[in-house]
Amino acid sequence: MALIQLEKLSKSYGRGNNAVSILKDFDFTFNAGEMLAITGKSGSGKTTLLNLIGAVDFADSGRYLFNGEEKRFRNVSDGVRFRAQNIGFIVQHFALIDDFTVYENVLMSLWETPTKPHERKKKVLEVLERLDILDLKDKYPPQLSGGEKQRTAIARAIVRKPAIILADEPTGALDAAAEKNTMDILKELHAEGTGIIIVTHDPEIAAQCDRTFELVKG
Ligand SMILES: Nc1ncnc2c1ncn2[C@@H]1O[C@H](COP(=O)(O)OP(=O)(O)O)[C@@H](O)[C@H]1O
Ligand SMILES: [Mg+2]
Repeated sequence: MALIQLEKLSKSYGRGNNAVSILKDFDFTFNAGEMLAITGKSGSGKTTLLNLIGAVDFADSGRYLFNGEEKRFRNVSDGVRFRAQNIGFIVQHFALIDDFTVYENVLMSLWETPTKPHERKKKVLEVLERLDILDLKDKYPPQLSGGEKQRTAIARAIVRKPAIILADEPTGALDAAAEKNTMDILKELHAEGTGIIIVTHDPEIAAQCDRTFELVKG
């Protein structure tokens, strides 16, 4: 069953004569539980597409259906609410908050969810244990290796148990061992039924997915 359907979606940046069209009448389907690689040249709109799927940014026209239901985001808080319920985001440079501990970085992911405080603590500790970073819970991001930062970022993305994880070049800044570890975790989540979309330049990463979708500009 389709989890995500985009129908004739269009997105441009800028206005009037300066408007640059990134996606035009774009159709796309993602099935529940799939593991999909999105490839394409730099500037082809891969990040733009993930941002539209994750409601970080909004399309100019077209339809977005999630679980068969049309989504009409009116403002940023609609997007925040939608993400809190459905989406886990992982980005190349981790986007951790340096003044927060590992524990707090993961905990903040539950702020927008209706989880009770004592349940939050339990959920965070469980996910830290799962990613083998429980012993790092009181450390701050600048004290971590790249692989440890990525595992913290993954913990933050999955603690809400999202239906889908959007990973934007998640292995781009990692060494080989940390890259394998990241892929192993994503594949494990996929085996449990979580949908995964990975933007990548790396054919070896794409080959580990069920399907590859190449984005061509325009
Ligand atoms: N907020 C923005 N304002 C204006 N142009 C943007 C913005 N974000 C991205 N772009 C432009 O849109 C194009 C697609 O960007 P992006 O989706 O980041 O591509 P990719 O992730 O495939 O490299 C690029 O030419 C980029 O410069
Ligand atoms: Mg990008």
